[in-house]
Amino acid sequence: MGQIKACLFDLDGVIVDTAKYHYIAWRELANELGFEFTIEDNERLKGVSRMTSLDILLEIGGVSLSEEEKLRLADKKNENYRTFILQMKPDEILDGAKDLLLELKEKGIRIALGSASKNAMTILNKLELTDLFEAIIDGTKVSKAKPDPEVFLKGAEALNVQAEECVVFEDAEAGVEAALAGNMRCVGIGSPNVLGKANLVIDGLHQMSYEKLMKLD
Ligand code: BG6
Ligand code: MG
Repeated sequence: MGQIKACLFDLDGVIVDTAKYHYIAWRELANELGFEFTIEDNERLKGVSRMTSLDILLEIGGVSLSEEEKLRLADKKNENYRTFILQMKPDEILDGAKDLLLELKEKGIRIALGSASKNAMTILNKLELTDLFEAIIDGTKVSKAKPDPEVFLKGAEALNVQAEECVVFEDAEAGVEAALAGNMRCVGIGSPNVLGKANLVIDGLHQMSYEKLMKLD
């Protein structure tokens, strides 16, 4: 592996906890369709694209719908979700995230976002973090969902660095797989039981620093 020149950050679950808002919006949709959707069910949607999330939800409820109806419901869920994220404030940034971004920047590490979300720009703007990212690759810019490495490879390309020079920060198993498939190192944020394939697993970005980053194999 090459010298570390760049860090690529997933957004949801790494920089901010949006899963709780996704959960409320998906649960309301499930309830309208006449079934329950639990917080455990919601775990299955982390890192997964909007339409795949809907497919999983409908499978849980044993509901089958036309493509047209699915698009309508995904839009409806997103409108509901957006009412929450539009109220977000910088104090919702997860512990240590902003300090780490500032420290890495100061040390000359390049920084990009690699998220499946089509709402990433809205969220970054609300958190007042947009300017800290040199490149933003989000759900509007990729055609293949994680575990495909496309989102991270595009991030490396935008920063003009090699994949081997990048470290990805991810909270979802599919995201860890995407990073490794792209020949990048990966720091998992969450449980080693789920993210065991990552080079290192930590509880949150508050446990990361430039010094620790440089010690990654
Ligand atoms: C990911 C989230 O970052 O983005 C998923 O972990 C979500 O839960 C996906 O489904 C797509 O997000 P959005 O905002 O485009 O619906
Ligand atoms: Mg995530």
